Amino acid sequence: MQLRIVVLPGDGVGPEVTEQAVRVLREVANIQGHNFHFEEHPAGGVAIKQSRTPLPRATLDACLAADAVLLGAIGSPEFDHLSPAEKPEAGLLLLRKSLGGFANLRPIVSYPALAAASPLRREIVEGADLLFVRELLGGLYFGEPRGIMRNGNSTAFNTMRYSVGEIERVARVAFEAAMKRQCKVTSVDKANVLETSQLWRETVTRVAADYPAVALDHLYVDAAAMHIITNPKRFDVILTENLFGDILSDEAAVISGSLGMLASGTVGGAVDLYEPVHGSAPDITGRNAANPLGAIASAAMLLRHTAQLEDEAADIEAAIQAVLSAGYRTRDIADGILGHIVSTNEMGQLVTEALAEFADMRHAYHAV
Ligand code: IPM
Ligand code: MG
Repeated sequence: MQLRIVVLPGDGVGPEVTEQAVRVLREVANIQGHNFHFEEHPAGGVAIKQSRTPLPRATLDACLAADAVLLGAIGSPEFDHLSPAEKPEAGLLLLRKSLGGFANLRPIVSYPALAAASPLRREIVEGADLLFVRELLGGLYFGEPRGIMRNGNSTAFNTMRYSVGEIERVARVAFEAAMKRQCKVTSVDKANVLETSQLWRETVTRVAADYPAVALDHLYVDAAAMHIITNPKRFDVILTENLFGDILSDEAAVISGSLGMLASGTVGGAVDLYEPVHGSAPDITGRNAANPLGAIASAAMLLRHTAQLEDEAADIEAAIQAVLSAGYRTRDIADGILGHIVSTNEMGQLVTEALAEFADMRHAYHAV
């Protein structure tokens, strides 16, 4: 299989983690005889420094011509003084909009080997397996009008806006995903206060009628925030709008033990976009200490969703599990009890080596 992957390392720890994800993908290509072509481009703060825009035309054109985009992280405290429209993050939002993917998939699992790394009790997290389907192109992130009116008593405003069409298309992604999982969708909104949520709830309920095999329930976002950490096993697929999904998915990271573990993939548009959920982590940048597993797991999602290479994706995930089970930890997932602390680079190498073993085993199995 031939795949053109544009890599946007971005800011902070982005380059360190994407390097490991690319290394793993190269190993997959090598083992399975695929032809993956990688092309790197600047985006975010690094691009602002080079060309005074967070999303240069050449970067966007390359992304639009790719089969998939793998992004590291965007954002840096250096640009804190800029307005949101000028920050590195504006480049990421423009990229998302331009690629057109509206459904951001964020799987969250409790890895057995990592249960002790979670601040939550083992019996609460063990066995938890959730999928966030976060609407990614609407809501407060993109709603107009927005701005600041500066005067004596300055006023700032953002607009939360959703159309039926926007809600329906992301709801369908959630129901389709649920059909392949535990057949349960929990839609999260604030329908007791917001009209956007009222329309959200009505629309999701209507779409649900097309999926009789899937059980639908609704939660207000405040209650959902509590249930996610008190009883994560009550969830299968969580469908929600842009900002609620942003907040709740960071919260849910404690189930996996660390934000560094989480992967994401954005689908439904012209080109799929894969990025770890974590940010640029300026506090540990350049120290070879970041956890690359979120980026590596995002690479696995790329193979699964964009290239339909299910076996290869599963091998990467099995390799991650194996490395964790063998006790290797980056600092963010060290639980103080067991484990060898390894660097970003070493973690990438360990996964690459484990992957080769898994692929060998699968070959041997098929040969029998
Ligand atoms: C995320 C991030 C982004 C978001 C930022 C960097 C704009 O927090 O992907 O969750 O808010 O979507
Ligand atoms: Mg976020």
